[in-house]
Formats: sequence, C-alpha cells, structure tokens
Amino acid sequence: MPVIASALNLSDADIHGVITFYHDFKQEKPGKNTIQICRAEACQAMGSRQLEIHAKAKLGLDWHETTADRNFTLEPVYCLGNCACAPSVKINDTILADMTGEKLDQQIEALSLPSIEVKEL
Ligand code: FES
Repeated sequence: MPVIASALNLSDADIHGVITFYHDFKQEKPGKNTIQICRAEACQAMGSRQLEIHAKAKLGLDWHETTADRNFTLEPVYCLGNCACAPSVKINDTILADMTGEKLDQQIEALSLPSIEVKEL
C-alpha cells in the first residue's frame, strides 16, 4: 500500500480505504480456485441462499476465506449476467448454471484432484 500511495501521491489511508471497500482488491493471494456464488435477486429466488450454506459447510469457509490447503477461496458475487439459469456460480473463469449442492460438490471434488479443469456438468 505505501508504494501505491506514494506513486499516486495519496495517503496510505486513502489506499487502504479503496482496497478494503472493493473485494476484488486482495490483500492476500486467493486460493488456486475461486468459487463465486451469486447472491443477487434472481439467484436468491432460485435457491442460492441454500447453495451458499451448502458451500460454506462443504468447504468450512465463510465469505472471502481460503481453505488451509490454499485450493479454494469462496466469494460472493452480485449477478453474473446469467439470471435466466439461476442459481449461478462462477468457478475461476467458468460460469455454471442451474447449480445445485450436488453439482457444486462434484466441481469441488474434481478440482481437488490434480490437473482437472472446470467443465459444465
Ligand atoms: S442474479 Fe444471479 S446471475 Fe443474475
């Protein structure tokens, strides 16, 4: 933060305020895989709250946390532009539609194996 503040001629507090307000700015390196669960209205109406509870229990994480093995980071997101196929989840660069706890478990298990990529199920 001091390097950025100096380069932009701003205070450390200014930079800290921005970094802590916007979750896309990370103060720690995220896990190898980032799972984002949509919490916007359409996805909530289609069960994303239950999916969120399931994911937190499965991974033993709360929002913005990373597993001890550094394999997964869990993040909330507010609309992935895939509302018609809610609930939607984004794993790394792949948006997955009509997500269920079972499908999420399959993705997590696949990503727990070495050299497996995310694929639509
Ligand atoms: S509300 Fe979830 S993708 Fe739009």
